[in-house]
Amino acid sequence: MRTQWTEVDRYIEERVLPRDPVLVEVRAATERAGLPSIAVSPAQGRQLELLARLAGARRILEIGTLGGYSTICLARALPEDGYLLSLEIDSHHAEVARANVALAALAAQVEVRVGRALETLPFVEAERLGPFDVVFIDADKDNNPQYLEWAVKLARPGALVIVDNVVRGGKVLDAASTDAVIRSTRRTYELLGSHPALDATIVQTVGSKGYDGFAMALVRGATRRVRS
Ligand code: SAH
Ligand code: DHB
Ligand code: MG
Repeated sequence: MRTQWTEVDRYIEERVLPRDPVLVEVRAATERAGLPSIAVSPAQGRQLELLARLAGARRILEIGTLGGYSTICLARALPEDGYLLSLEIDSHHAEVARANVALAALAAQVEVRVGRALETLPFVEAERLGPFDVVFIDADKDNNPQYLEWAVKLARPGALVIVDNVVRGGKVLDAASTDAVIRSTRRTYELLGSHPALDATIVQTVGSKGYDGFAMALVRGATRRVRS
């Protein structure tokens, strides 16, 4: 099946996605620099851009930069005076990402900060770099419950929160798993389903990255009437 999913992704790229030499080069440069090939797919990247545009995003927070592929997709949704902050633990990844962001002519809008995100996030709050309109969580999956809480804290009412990689080939079903990532992913589901500030869903996906899925949640607005 996976070959077919990848072939359909290629068909989508050929017929539906815009020709995008910059993103092609960004992916190639990331691979040349020795970073792992785990960025969002082109179709997923385009989805991130469209969702951020739909959200009217002016300020975006990303947790987990890698080579900046998703960063660039999201930042393309920003107006000229928009701002995207991306948090990355690995200084080499951050260097590669900054070069890629410059290549995409987005250096004026994008800041990549190096550090463990759980240590950087308190500074994001203290420096009042938010509130954010979109938060994309895509770093170390075992901290996703904490990142989700931070997203709620740093996002404006009505903001969109997206969490990548929450299905992991269906392994999320394993309630007895001792794997920290699966356990945290399951806690993330509980949190998404019970958090008073979030309206959420999870969409399973297949494609060139295999069988996975993403969560999306809307931060409830103060004035919005919510049923249930
Ligand atoms: N969002 C990227 C992919 C991110 S891969 C894209 O789709 O293009 C996950 C990234 O999270 C890696 O670069 C990894 O170094 C980073 N990471 C892992 N643990 C982290 C942590 N504790 N804080 C910040 N970044 C972390
Ligand atoms: C993998 C995929 C991702 O999208 C990610 O953020 C981290 C790891 C993976 O396939 O291993
Ligand atoms: Mg991911």
